Amino acid sequence: MSRKGKVTVVGAGFYGSTTAQRLAEYDVFETVVLTDVVDGKAEGLALDLNQSRAVEGFETQVIGQTTGQSGEGYEAIQGSDIVVITAGLPRKPGMSRMDLIETNARIMRSVAENIAKHAPDSVIINVANPLDEMTALAQIVTGFPKHRILGQAGMLDTARFTNFVAEQLQVPVGSVTTLTLGSHGDTMVPVPSSCNVDGKPLSDLLSAEEIEELVTRTRNGGAEVVALLKTGSAYYAPSAAAARMARSVIEDSGEVMPVCAWVEGEHGISGVYLGVEAEIGREGVRRIVATDLTESELAGLREAAEAVRAKQEDVKEL
Ligand code: 2OP
Repeated sequence: MSRKGKVTVVGAGFYGSTTAQRLAEYDVFETVVLTDVVDGKAEGLALDLNQSRAVEGFETQVIGQTTGQSGEGYEAIQGSDIVVITAGLPRKPGMSRMDLIETNARIMRSVAENIAKHAPDSVIINVANPLDEMTALAQIVTGFPKHRILGQAGMLDTARFTNFVAEQLQVPVGSVTTLTLGSHGDTMVPVPSSCNVDGKPLSDLLSAEEIEELVTRTRNGGAEVVALLKTGSAYYAPSAAAARMARSVIEDSGEVMPVCAWVEGEHGISGVYLGVEAEIGREGVRRIVATDLTESELAGLREAAEAVRAKQEDVKEL
């Protein structure tokens, strides 16, 4: 099997370390680099992951690297094809993702400056919250072309929606197709008109009230996990989504995925990072796919765009 490329995961918390694990276990990358500001944490996790290779049967080499406040250690990410940013605080019970904006903006600025310096040709996949705003900030700080900066949220929200539909109907998750667009927050836009089970429209299988309940649960999907965990936020489903996006980039797959991407005209929306469907390839976003939407779904997407636009203006000052 031929492996190629180098992917870096910044931040070795649960989200970052499970993302690194999934990326390594795909066995398609030459190297996975994991970094963290806590002394020795990334090196320890990398050593542990490498020791799992004989059992799991993958050859990808994992490198751990502690980074300092002034950018020490970032040389390790040199030449990365992809950088996944997981650095930042997670929510505590009762917090909204927006409550993290000031702290995470400070962290994002420092991380993004170091990525621009050491991995100037990389595609960035941001997962730090508030997602749409931190993705915009990563672009502002790095100055990278907008198509090379993506945020992970739609894959996760869609996976949650799919899981809820499968559980409700007692069918395999593989038979369910769902979609969520908009922001990774209160203005998330689940898209029931694009949802089906083995090709049958969701509206033929569930009542409008039942669909609305699943939509609401999807919108609160992250908060539901945070409330149960009490410390930290979800990481299994989020890391699955982020790793899948990184794989799609390195394989230049052309897969269409719901992601946070720069929108310039599609759906009548312009100049904002927003959850939309996009074709993913080696250069990041190849093109935005303007999914057919009902009038109310389109109105929801435009509302999300305006909410995110206002906040994205604010992050410039943070
Ligand atoms: C979530 O929704 C971490 O924002 C992420 O769980």
